[in-house]
Amino acid sequence: MGYVDGMSHDVAGEAPSWSEVVRVRAPAKVNLALCVGARAPDGYHPLRTIFQAVSLWDEVTATPAPGGVLDVVVEGRDASLVPTDGTDLTVRAAALLRQRCGTPGLGAHLHVTKAIPVAAGLAGGSADAAAALLACSVLWDLDTDPEMLAELGAELGSDVPFALLGGTALGTGRGSDLLPLLTRGRYQWVLAFAHRTLSTPAVYQRFDELIGCGRAELPAGLLEALVRGDAAAAGLRLANDLQGPAVDLYPELGQTLAFGTVLHGVLGSLVSGSGPTCAFLCADARSAAAVADRLAELPAVRATRLVTGAVPGAQLLG
Ligand code: C5P
Repeated sequence: MGYVDGMSHDVAGEAPSWSEVVRVRAPAKVNLALCVGARAPDGYHPLRTIFQAVSLWDEVTATPAPGGVLDVVVEGRDASLVPTDGTDLTVRAAALLRQRCGTPGLGAHLHVTKAIPVAAGLAGGSADAAAALLACSVLWDLDTDPEMLAELGAELGSDVPFALLGGTALGTGRGSDLLPLLTRGRYQWVLAFAHRTLSTPAVYQRFDELIGCGRAELPAGLLEALVRGDAAAAGLRLANDLQGPAVDLYPELGQTLAFGTVLHGVLGSLVSGSGPTCAFLCADARSAAAVADRLAELPAVRATRLVTGAVPGAQLLG
């Protein structure tokens, strides 16, 4: 886990300056494959998925607060969609960490700068939870390790452990049992953001109604393509069992995919996670820039963003 990106100690070599303000960033993800089994009695669906962390980050800053206060201010993209009444994932993450690993008097003011769109299939909320876990763990000088943070993360949301880990990884169970994959190559993606949001539970429910049980196995050859660093072969094998249900709920996504998939340089495309963001894997940075421009012309596309994968998980910033 590539946690420490740099620590700033003051010049006199005394106490580290990061104890007063801790800054962490955590990445968005795309799923290169999302294979969904039948809903289990606990309401969750067993998954086989390949996550890739991409270069779009939310940032969380934690500063000490007296008397056990935990509060949050959110700014940036879609900030108005994030509750600030203590029910958002950053405050819940900090409270869970304090309960399990700290003492009741510990407090923090959290500040979230969002770049990852909310409810977009990119695990933005999970990134914020992952960043808050790491930031508060450092702020409060807790004796936590990556496994402990991942366990707490899994209680907060299925994608939180991956936001901590980053890179490219196989996810099983609810998506939170992770196996890092040693993949080669740099993957150029264009993300096409939609105007509306999609609720993950609603997309899973539509999956139950329309499909019930998806692919049991990952697409043949995908893991091998990633290990070889063969983006073209990987692009042909992208697959998402939630894509049909997401398009059913939001038909314009079908048009975005149809338009983008045939553009020059596009190796493959899919809805990211439960959507509605569409992700286009491109041959190189140049074709990705042209694809982003063309996609941005579509009325169904709110904005486009060029990102690369894989990037590390939640990182402390100097
Ligand atoms: O775990 P997380 O909070 O991200 O999940 C949000 C919702 O997505 C769950 O309440 C559930 O409805 C659905 N889900 C699922 N199966 C999974 C992961 C999520 O049905 N493996």
